[in-house]
Amino acid sequence: IPTQIFADSKDASNAVAQEIADLIRQKQKEGKNCVLGLATGSSPKTVYARLVRMHKEEGLSFKNVISFNLDEYYQMEPDSIHSYHRFMKEQLFDHVDIPKENYFLPDGTIPAAMVRDYCSNYENKINAVGGLDFQLLGIGGNGHIGFNEPGSLINARTRLITLDHSTRAAAAMEFGGLHKVPRKAITLGVAPILSARRIVLLAWGERKASVIRGAVEGPVTERNPASYLQAHPDVAFILDESAASELT
Ligand code: F6R
Repeated sequence: IPTQIFADSKDASNAVAQEIADLIRQKQKEGKNCVLGLATGSSPKTVYARLVRMHKEEGLSFKNVISFNLDEYYQMEPDSIHSYHRFMKEQLFDHVDIPKENYFLPDGTIPAAMVRDYCSNYENKINAVGGLDFQLLGIGGNGHIGFNEPGSLINARTRLITLDHSTRAAAAMEFGGLHKVPRKAITLGVAPILSARRIVLLAWGERKASVIRGAVEGPVTERNPASYLQAHPDVAFILDESAASELT
């Protein structure tokens, strides 16, 4: 997996935002939509802030962008302060000119009996607009991408998943206690993630150093789902020095 190591996460995020902006503009020139796969969490925040600035100050338009987020907690109301819907609106969508009908996140309120069909429809919608041109990823301390926790197979589809204890523990502060963190989430599967034409994974800080090493240098294993990215033809890991500190 090609890695790019930056002195700090701000420089790294600016470079990623630039790549996304270039792609959006190139697609605009071709008269095409730009289909983005987006992530939440702390890692992409500065990328989104930079994109908002490019919209406000440099006229970057999101009119041709169609986006699909990786995941949403289950159960989760979209207007909850803990929802990824809310996160995306606050970090990006409310501040740029993306049409409301152009962005999608998994619906954390779908009745259990309908989740299977809902998930395959979510993938169908991505395919119907031509597939993901670009997928932005973070990585869990346990190697999860989206919420494909360890044990997820390389051909895993979009589905309802039970979150790992470590994933829930990492979110406990934000939720005001472990018991308030949902036990499940809907996540885009490993397979549809790997179908994206370009994948960029962000990781900052020492906390991610060992899982990054495993993903980049270790065997391809379900114990570290990010290692599946070794099989992708156009992927990059964008790291700060601490996240890269265990690479040999
Ligand atoms: C979020 C997602 C997760 C996060 C991961 C890292 O949509 O899919 O895989 O990217 O948990 O989270 P942060 O960036 O908060 O360390």
